Amino acid sequence: MKLSDEMRKSLNEQIVMESDASSFYLGMASWCEVTGYEGAASFFYAQSDEERQHMLKIVHYMNRIGTMADISACSEPKKDVKSLEEIIRTSLENEQKVTQSIHQIITLAEKERDRRTFDFMQWFVKEQIEEEETFDNILQKFEVVGRDKLAIYEVDKYMNGIGSKQDKE
Ligand SMILES: [Fe+2]
Ligand SMILES: [Fe+2]
Repeated sequence: MKLSDEMRKSLNEQIVMESDASSFYLGMASWCEVTGYEGAASFFYAQSDEERQHMLKIVHYMNRIGTMADISACSEPKKDVKSLEEIIRTSLENEQKVTQSIHQIITLAEKERDRRTFDFMQWFVKEQIEEEETFDNILQKFEVVGRDKLAIYEVDKYMNGIGSKQDKE
């Protein structure tokens, strides 16, 4: 059984969202790298790879069940970056939007009694809880250590640790 038109549209939009996230994180990784935030750069490079994996998960899911995924252009990542904290805040906001979108897909799956997509999306629900938590924790660090140069150095070091943890998983 193929996906409904509405579900196909929603999943295609989710592919664009994941792809947008991947390119946003790549842009931020690059900014961090040239700014001298090595820990944050490695965190965001890893994050960009992860988002690409999320995108591929949906592409494979759709293709496997016989509804070809539609690959559209993604939007250009932010160019006027002001601070590491600003990036983390924007990342959290973006992740919250992704979470909402995933929940909408699940609501649609329930409405359509599309058990298959409902089950498939559960992985994303858990993933979003982790992602929001990760960015929340980094933001909290700024509250704890402050925002002077030494404090940002600490946050950068902390982010490096998260990056390597993800790599090992
Ligand atoms: Fe994602
Ligand atoms: Fe994400």
